[in-house]
Amino acid sequence: MTPPAQTGAASELRCIACGRVTDRPAQDFRCSVCGDLLEIAYPGWSSAAPDPATLKSLWRRRRTSHDALDQSGVWRFRDLLPEFSKGESVITLREGNTPLYEMPQCARMAGVQYLFAKHQGMNPTGSFKDTGMTVAASAARQRGFRWVACASTGNTSASMAAYAARGGMRSLVLIPEGKVSWGKLSQALDYGAVTCQLKTDFDGCVRVLNEVVQRMPVYLLNSVNPYRIEGQKTAALELLEQFDWQPPDHIIVPGGNLGNSSALGKALLELHQLNVIPRLPRLSVVQAEGANALVRTLAETGGQRLVSVQAETAASAIRIGNPASWKKAVRALKATGGTVEQVSEVEIALAKAEIGAEGIGCEPASAVTLAGLKKLVRKGFVKNGENVVLILTGHLLKDPDFTLKFHRGDLFTGSESASAARVLAEQQRAPVVLDATPEAVVQELQKREDRS
Ligand code: F0G
Repeated sequence: MTPPAQTGAASELRCIACGRVTDRPAQDFRCSVCGDLLEIAYPGWSSAAPDPATLKSLWRRRRTSHDALDQSGVWRFRDLLPEFSKGESVITLREGNTPLYEMPQCARMAGVQYLFAKHQGMNPTGSFKDTGMTVAASAARQRGFRWVACASTGNTSASMAAYAARGGMRSLVLIPEGKVSWGKLSQALDYGAVTCQLKTDFDGCVRVLNEVVQRMPVYLLNSVNPYRIEGQKTAALELLEQFDWQPPDHIIVPGGNLGNSSALGKALLELHQLNVIPRLPRLSVVQAEGANALVRTLAETGGQRLVSVQAETAASAIRIGNPASWKKAVRALKATGGTVEQVSEVEIALAKAEIGAEGIGCEPASAVTLAGLKKLVRKGFVKNGENVVLILTGHLLKDPDFTLKFHRGDLFTGSESASAARVLAEQQRAPVVLDATPEAVVQELQKREDRS
């Protein structure tokens, strides 16, 4: 029998702290010697690096192909992904291929001339998680697992459930009860996951799941799984391709469990090492003030030791106090010359409405990027003439509750931010209830015309 065709680059799994290489990772993807995270490395590149011009033309050519792998915005870049048997084992929903939008109104709000949004919410299940999930779920299938599992604030579970279903695997979701938006929860249910709402927060769900994977043969699909990180790298590749390989000055990303910032940083460093890009953009991470573990880790320990927090924010996707990939994220920020910023609940709500008013929209966690950018401009870290890209991580429809409460003016009712929230009034567009007559509608229209 002929062996299945291989695709991708020769790779190894290496511990980020002690450097030990393993070909049989533990169920929790922790190094068996020192307990730290693993990453995928491509040792062949130091002696025989792929040629940058060849890579660029190959990636461009694949965009016109009808092959399922070529049509995926992740697998199109498989030359920088670990090797896989081609064909049946790859589970793809044609993820990636997300748009890069110009954001002229938000640019004015933030005080920069050139602002773009890379909208990862335009992935098949509505968040950036799909780019990592296609790779890691494929790895699970290739290894013969029947069950996959994750702890999640909602998007990972939606994505995992979809890819598991497509790949003929069962999925187990652990989510914090009452803290996951309905949009995300309904996706997991519809895609057939066994969905357990635990009476704890995200960090508690992670603790429970780590025990479960020790006892049962389930494949862990949280972002400690290094295959997730490899897939998520491709957002940076696609972004740079959209800029014709001329890097922007800044890339700004929300931070929760810090897998995504780690992935984007890894991509930038690899592209630079391979001479695909001439210089590194600065990668900066923005967190909610109430879930600011990375901000505190850098401020209080210089990035040496994790400072965990009890997380609280209405941006439920990033309500995480004990981020798993903090070390990888610190490394990415330091290597690219980026920084961290934190933003308040009112700042997040305002930024989300501004992104919405641009006709783009996103979920609250994504809006921290614009809120953070405003602060970074005020501090002089981002200069007016620099090119800035915000990574929008989730679709507007992921959390319609937040949006409705915002426009009805209920978001901060009874909270300590209620008085600060008065600044939001100008952005609020509550629906009006009218008599069912043309006159009533015409009158409303004229009223609005007079105001503009
Ligand atoms: N934005 C959105 C919309 C998210 O869903 C997440 C994480 C983040 C940002 C933060 O990314 O964790 O890689 O730093 N959501 C995870 C989940 C934790 O379970 O869906 P990160």
